[in-house]
Amino acid sequence: MSAAPGLFVTFEGGEGAGKSTQIRLLAEALRARGLTVLMTREPGGSKGAEAVRHVLLSGAAEPYGIRMEAILFAAARNDHVEQVIRPALSAGTVVLCDRFMDSSRVYQGITGNLEQPFIAALERVAVNGVVPDCTIIFDLPAAIGLERARKRSAGPDEQPDRFEKEELETHEKRREAFLDIAEREPLRCRVVDATQTQEAIADQVLAIAEPLLPINAHDRHDPEPIS
Ligand SMILES: Nc1ncnc2c1ncn2[C@@H]1O[C@H](COP(=O)(O)OP(=O)(O)OP(=O)(O)O)[C@@H](O)[C@H]1O
Ligand SMILES: [Mg+2]
Repeated sequence: MSAAPGLFVTFEGGEGAGKSTQIRLLAEALRARGLTVLMTREPGGSKGAEAVRHVLLSGAAEPYGIRMEAILFAAARNDHVEQVIRPALSAGTVVLCDRFMDSSRVYQGITGNLEQPFIAALERVAVNGVVPDCTIIFDLPAAIGLERARKRSAGPDEQPDRFEKEELETHEKRREAFLDIAEREPLRCRVVDATQTQEAIADQVLAIAEPLLPINAHDRHDPEPIS
């Protein structure tokens, strides 16, 4: 837990699960209540992290292998944490982050085949104690996620080709990896059924966040004396 006056909520799950849609809706709902909300995302989110993002996305790090890339992701995350997230939490801000450490565990650790102790060591250095108060995992069958992605880009439905079949297996593996994390850390993680309508999901996400909000947390920790 961040143990800061703010609240740190991360949004996780596979491609097309609705993370970016729901982070926007929650930010709007909380701002309407007068809360200070910072919406951010990874990789990136700070000046240093954006510079590293550029190195990663330009392909400059690729020849040096996945361990090098994982270390660079961790460097970017640490800059994002120290320059942006930690100060915001200290100031009482509600920080909503689109992907965070669980995406590294899943994408680099599980489907990237990097060994678990290496990923865990990088995570400790990167987050440096700033663990999300709450992680909402958007759970969606891989086939539906891919269908949404296909609707976004391609034309009418065709039989999935070999590449798409491989992709389906990889997506399903990631889905299971996110669910594993939720099972192992039930106090931090909440799983939301992402096959529901956007409105139903938004209601659920707000219901998860509501009791954790700084003002409610304050009430909970420092109750008024009963006279
Ligand atoms: N509950 C929903 N039902 C149906 N479609 C949805 C739902 N939520 C989002 N979508 C649509 O699915 C697509 C993916 O949503 P979104 O971009 O929010 O997902 P994401 O998890 O951020 O994906 P990515 O990992 O690719 O960034 C968008 O076209 C969005 O409009
Ligand atoms: Mg997104």
